[in-house]
Amino acid sequence: MTTIRDVAKAAQVSVATVSRVLNNQGYVSAHSREKVERAIQELNYTPNAVARSLYKKKSKSIGFIIPDISNPFFPQLFRAVEKYLIDHEYTVLLFNSDDQLDRISNIMDSMRTEYVAGAIIVSDKIKEEHLAKLSIPVVAIDRVISEHVPSLTVNNYKNAREAIRYLVSQGCSNIAHVRGPKGVYNAEERFRGYRDEIAEQQLPSLVICGNYDLKTSLVATMELLDQHPEIDGIFAGNDIMAVGVIKALAKLGIQVPDQMKVIGFDGIEWGTTITPELTTMEQPIEQIGTKSGELLLNLIDGHVMDSHHYSFDAKLVVRDST
Ligand code: RIB
Repeated sequence: MTTIRDVAKAAQVSVATVSRVLNNQGYVSAHSREKVERAIQELNYTPNAVARSLYKKKSKSIGFIIPDISNPFFPQLFRAVEKYLIDHEYTVLLFNSDDQLDRISNIMDSMRTEYVAGAIIVSDKIKEEHLAKLSIPVVAIDRVISEHVPSLTVNNYKNAREAIRYLVSQGCSNIAHVRGPKGVYNAEERFRGYRDEIAEQQLPSLVICGNYDLKTSLVATMELLDQHPEIDGIFAGNDIMAVGVIKALAKLGIQVPDQMKVIGFDGIEWGTTITPELTTMEQPIEQIGTKSGELLLNLIDGHVMDSHHYSFDAKLVVRDST
């Protein structure tokens, strides 16, 4: 079996130099790099895909960056993206960033090392200047990076307004919003939708901040109901928070949907595993994932884009919580 030493010997360089080439890290002169790459090819040292990426400085893999692996929305989105890309002979490398800049910087380094051909990104922190360092095609999904980066999102504002109108149609007149974190694109849009629809319906505005997770939402709901026992409907900014709301209501002995109606946003599978099953604004996750893969491959192939922002509609799915 060929070893790294054989490659170093054939290329007449040190093992460390071969390793720097393989990892695309540290300084290697153009001449030595060429010798190493030739030796790798001749000795068939690495699997074909890797050798090819080293040679072409481009692989058949795509980087997919998500902000929160613990939110089942993202694994569902990943599956949709991955299915499309695998069908088109690409592999997908999944990176969880927790939307922390230091993590993002490491992820960017890994993507460079892997010579990914393009990236699909869900992030509120990644800006155009970070992408300039990557110099590969990028598609933003679920969030918007800038007007220059193609993006795909649901119509968060409009669909949030629809959620409120639905609660009103079910007889709610004191509707609260457990909103997603401040500064997060879609949380702000959903909040704006709530605020404008509540104003239009001439209802009181009752907002509390959650963190797009279950625990914070549970605690926030207990606090909110302590201050406002008159609340009869809750719009949670995503489904996990809606599950937190329903848990809080169970702890307080409040009956759903008789005393309180609850609606979420996302349409994750969890929504059907709880009692009562969750009414939600369901995002077309599969469609968004597929379209993002298609756009990215078009960009990689050098095709011109026909639009920079793609908007989808979430659909009301009525279950037992309203
Ligand atoms: O960041 C989390 C949220 O953003 C998800 O729950 C989903 O609503 C997505 O749009």
